[in-house]
Amino acid sequence: MSDPKVVLVTGASSGIGQATARVLAENGYFVGMAARRWERLEALARELGERGLPLQCDVTDEGQVRAAVQELLDRRGRIDVLINNAGVMRIGPFLDQPQDNDRLQVETNLLGSLRMLRAVLPVMVRQGAGIVVNVSSILGRAIRPGAAVYVATKAGLIALTESLRKEFTRRNIRFLVVEPGMVRTELHPPAEFEQAIRSAGIQKPLEAEEIASAILYALEQPEHVAVSEILIRPVTQEL
Ligand SMILES: NC(=O)c1ccc[n+]([C@@H]2O[C@H](COP(=O)([O-])OP(=O)(O)OC[C@H]3O[C@@H](n4cnc5c(N)ncnc54)[C@H](OP(=O)(O)O)[C@@H]3O)[C@@H](O)[C@H]2O)c1
Repeated sequence: MSDPKVVLVTGASSGIGQATARVLAENGYFVGMAARRWERLEALARELGERGLPLQCDVTDEGQVRAAVQELLDRRGRIDVLINNAGVMRIGPFLDQPQDNDRLQVETNLLGSLRMLRAVLPVMVRQGAGIVVNVSSILGRAIRPGAAVYVATKAGLIALTESLRKEFTRRNIRFLVVEPGMVRTELHPPAEFEQAIRSAGIQKPLEAEEIASAILYALEQPEHVAVSEILIRPVTQEL
């Protein structure tokens, strides 16, 4: 039997990242799980047993990103898939938002993904293969008011993914951008989530496992097939 494929998932301590780590481990992958909340990662690692490695990593910190990538490499010798999923959202009228929120979102959603890419892409180039999954948002495509900096980071991720896809095509590295609609996770405080889905007329939001299944679908394709973009929304989400 061949060695399991090695995946690095950021933001694995909750929501989409946690569900993706679980689904991939259940489907035979070895998962490096990166995030800041160590107890959450340890609990998930206990659940996944030999299929998971918790990695303390704040993606806004260059040193922690490098150390997490190195730890996974020391343990498994390769990284087949990088899932840039860690993200934060601070929405509301632009002039009401403190500037710190601008920095936090750009540092985490955009620069955090770039730090990971700079650490992992050279590994994939050496391997002659790899898959990068960047988790953007439906809001990166369907630009709406009241979320200017968040949508800027998510639209930026879509553009970044497409440019890198073209640059790395001949190196056999595949790029996928995932654009979820409303998913029930800790990204949304529960009361605000209920209010948001009501006002958007969404009858049943997505669950994190549904995004994880979409990612699994893309990863399971034969080597000559690149699924480059997945926009996935609840049926009743008009946006
Ligand atoms: N939920 C939705 O409706 C929705 C829709 C479209 C796109 N998305 C995107 O999906 C991704 C996952 O979000 P989610 O919905 O699953 O929300 P979530 O449950 O809040 O998960 C966010 C994850 O990001 C991690 N994270 C945040 N800042 C980090 C940092 N500086 N370093 C490392 N990890 C960090 C958090 O872990 P720690 O706090 O432990 O570090 C957590 O694991 C995000 O990029 C989000 O923008 C979500």
